[in-house]
Amino acid sequence: MEHLLEANGIKMYFGGVHAVDDVSLYVDSGETLGIIGPNGSGKTTFFNALTGIYKPTGGTFIFRGKDITGKELDKMAGLGIARTFQNLRIFNALTVKENALIGQNLNIKTSFLDNLLHTPKFKQEEEKASALVEEALELVGLKNMDNEIAGSMPYGKQKRLELARALMCEPRLLLLDEPTAGMNSVEAQELMELVAKIKEEKQISIILIEHNMKVMMRVAQRIVAMDNGHKIAEGLPEEIQNNEHVIRAYLGGQ
Ligand SMILES: Nc1ncnc2c1ncn2[C@@H]1O[C@H](COP(=O)(O)OP(=O)(O)OP(=O)(O)O)[C@@H](O)[C@H]1O
Ligand SMILES: [Mg+2]
Repeated sequence: MEHLLEANGIKMYFGGVHAVDDVSLYVDSGETLGIIGPNGSGKTTFFNALTGIYKPTGGTFIFRGKDITGKELDKMAGLGIARTFQNLRIFNALTVKENALIGQNLNIKTSFLDNLLHTPKFKQEEEKASALVEEALELVGLKNMDNEIAGSMPYGKQKRLELARALMCEPRLLLLDEPTAGMNSVEAQELMELVAKIKEEKQISIILIEHNMKVMMRVAQRIVAMDNGHKIAEGLPEEIQNNEHVIRAYLGGQ
């Protein structure tokens, strides 16, 4: 069977810094793959290379059978990969709805002229966008909060808003970079229950970068461990948790 996503020998070098070095992994449909590793081990850089923020120094990304290496996913409407960022990227002065719509704009199919002339196509897209916003906000538990100013909401809600924005482009694969960072354990648990629910409902696959091992053990079917840009282990959560190489990598980093 074809994997949903295949990363083959990905390298991301910044001069002499080998941030990601020959990493291969795959994700199947409906699967949650975890990526763990000490600070600076190359996890975020792997996402950045996958989403076209950087063009990989080497290797290929194959998504649904198609080579997407180096493609800027933001510009590839409807491809089906969405991500959230390690640091909040919310526009504080905008409303919840406006922030969510930024996700949809990446996926809009009307021309400048359609927008200018408010053609039927424009109205159609606008209605579709509104329906999508409503659905996405409901999914993340922010129903009826469209008009709140994003910056005035508590941190946990802002994180949910980012998730809603990612869902606006109706992804098949969702990349989550430390979604529970900065949350207490109750908030973290709530967020991950939400992610699990969305995954089931929407039938999406997830790659989750997460330091919180408790969270990771609960939601990931398979885990890849990284250290110094390399993949050092891959396996079931309980295998990874007891893997000597992994334990050493984490202890060494402290
Ligand atoms: N644009 C860049 N230019 C130069 N070096 C970079 C760049 N981006 C990342 N790096 C380096 O690549 C390495 C991996 O960084 P990365 O952010 O991917 O780690 P990480 O595993 O996500 O860490 P953390 O758990 O702290 O988020 C680090 O040494 C970092 O300094
Ligand atoms: Mg990171």
